Amino acid sequence: MDFDDNLPVGTSDASGDAAGVRACDVTILVCSSCRDETGSDAHPRAGERLAESARRAAVGQGVTVRTVECLGNCKRRLSAALLRDGAWSYVFGDLNVSSGEDLVTGAQLFSTSTDGLIPWRGRPDSLKRGLVARIPPLALIKEDK
Ligand code: FES
Repeated sequence: MDFDDNLPVGTSDASGDAAGVRACDVTILVCSSCRDETGSDAHPRAGERLAESARRAAVGQGVTVRTVECLGNCKRRLSAALLRDGAWSYVFGDLNVSSGEDLVTGAQLFSTSTDGLIPWRGRPDSLKRGLVARIPPLALIKEDK
């Protein structure tokens, strides 16, 4: 899948101001249980190696890396999510064990976004091709009439 998911949402969060953009906290959530393409159960799992790659890339970058045992995206191989309070949440798949730097780049773009979306421009290819879903913050959901 290759599409521009960076559609306008008609809202903005409080992360930006006219003088400059304040960075918001972004968490990279990596599935540590994902297996590599061989399906091996060996440890460390490929997901654990991806988490370690993200931790190394995040050093000094103001990005938090956490792990979870499954993101429910097992068919798309190595998976991770980017989370930010009050912003859209993103799930990615088809990553590899060295995608940590891409996740940190995406997290940095996300942290200074003024519309609560990860900008398409500058987003690493793995986070374009690997996009599985984006989920709006509850505050953005309007009730059906
Ligand atoms: S085991 Fe990684 S998404 Fe399910």
